[in-house]
Amino acid sequence: MPSNDIRAVDAAREAKVAAARDLSDVSHEPGVVKPDAILVVDGVRRQFGGLVAVDVDHLEFPRGCITALIGPNGAGKTTLFNLLTGFDRPQDGDWEFRPTADTAKKMRNVPAYRVARAGMVRTFQLTKALSKMTVLDNMKLAATRQQGERIWPSLLPFLWRAQDQAIEARAMELLARFKLDTKAQEYAGTLSGGQRKLLEMARALMTEPTIVMLDEPMAGVNPALTQSLLEHVKALRSDGMSVIFVEHDMDVVRDISDWVVVMAQGGVIAEGPPDVVSANPHVIDAYLGARHDEALPEVELGAPLADDAEAVREEIAAEIHETEKEAGQ
Ligand SMILES: Nc1ncnc2c1ncn2[C@@H]1O[C@H](COP(=O)(O)OP(=O)(O)O)[C@@H](O)[C@H]1O
Ligand SMILES: [Mg+2]
Repeated sequence: MPSNDIRAVDAAREAKVAAARDLSDVSHEPGVVKPDAILVVDGVRRQFGGLVAVDVDHLEFPRGCITALIGPNGAGKTTLFNLLTGFDRPQDGDWEFRPTADTAKKMRNVPAYRVARAGMVRTFQLTKALSKMTVLDNMKLAATRQQGERIWPSLLPFLWRAQDQAIEARAMELLARFKLDTKAQEYAGTLSGGQRKLLEMARALMTEPTIVMLDEPMAGVNPALTQSLLEHVKALRSDGMSVIFVEHDMDVVRDISDWVVVMAQGGVIAEGPPDVVSANPHVIDAYLGARHDEALPEVELGAPLADDAEAVREEIAAEIHETEKEAGQ
C-alpha cells in the first residue's frame, strides 16, 4: 500500500476512535443530548396536505462524526435534509447550526445557497450534475460568488483572474482526489452513475463545508466504486468534517457510521451506535423486518423526483437572482 494510503487509513481509524470516545457516555434514546452537537433540531414539522412527512421533536447531530440516518422509504429522511438545507420550508420548528463549539446560527428561513455558504452542504438522492456542462465547470459553479465576486471584473481584472485561478486549482485538486481529473474537460453527462456521485461529493467540498449531508450516496453505484465512495466518506471525517448520510445498506452503516438515527413516519424512533441500533427490536419491526442482515433494495434511479427537480430549479433561480443583484442589473 502506498504510504499516503496508509496515512489515510491511520487517520480514518483515529477519527473513528475519537468519535466513539465522544459518544461513549451518550444514552441510546431518541432526542438525546450530545456533548458537542453541530446541528440541533427542535420541533421541526413538515406536512404535505394531510400527510405529516417530518415531525422531529428534538435531534442533535454530533460534531466530527459520521451519523447515518436510516428508516424505511417514506420515513421523511429526504424531506428532513431538504428542510435543514433550505430547499424546503417547514410549518413549524427551528434548528441551529453550530459551526464551532461557541457559535450558533439559527437556520430557519435561510435560503439554500446561504446555508451552503454558511458551511452546510448536501448532495441529492438523484444527482444533479449539470450534464451539458463540463466536469470542471460543474465544480466551479459551486464556488461562484464567493468573496471578491462583487468586484467588477472589468475594474480589477487581475484580482478576478487570481480568484478564478484559485477556484480552478481547488477544483482540479478535488477532481484528482476523486480520480476525475482526467475527465475535467468532458461533459458531466458522459460520466457513469457512480462517477456522478463522486462529482457531486467533490463539488460539495468546493465551499470547504463544516457539515456534509449525503442523501443515499451509494444508491445506484456499481459495486466496484462503492468501496472508494466509502473511503471518501471516511476521509471527510478524518479531515474534521461532520457527515450525515442516508443509507439503506446496514453493512455500510455498520462499517462507517459512529452514530445511527432511525426515522419512521416522520419521527425519530431510535438512536445509538450502529451495533446497538441494529439489535433494537423497534428498529427491526419498523424497518429491518426479517431481512435485517440483508441490504434493502436500492431505490430506482428513474426520472428525477419532482421535488428534487424543483429544488434544482429553485437553487439555480436563486443563484441567478443573487448574481444579477450583486452585479447591479
Ligand atoms: N413534495 C412533496 N409533496 C407531497 N408529498 C411529499 C413530498 N415530498 C415528500 N413527500 C411525502 O413525504 C413522505 C416522506 O418522504 P421522503 O422524505 O422522500 O422519505 P424518505 O427519503 O425517507 O424515503 C412520503 O410519504 C412522501 O411521499
Ligand atoms: Mg429519500
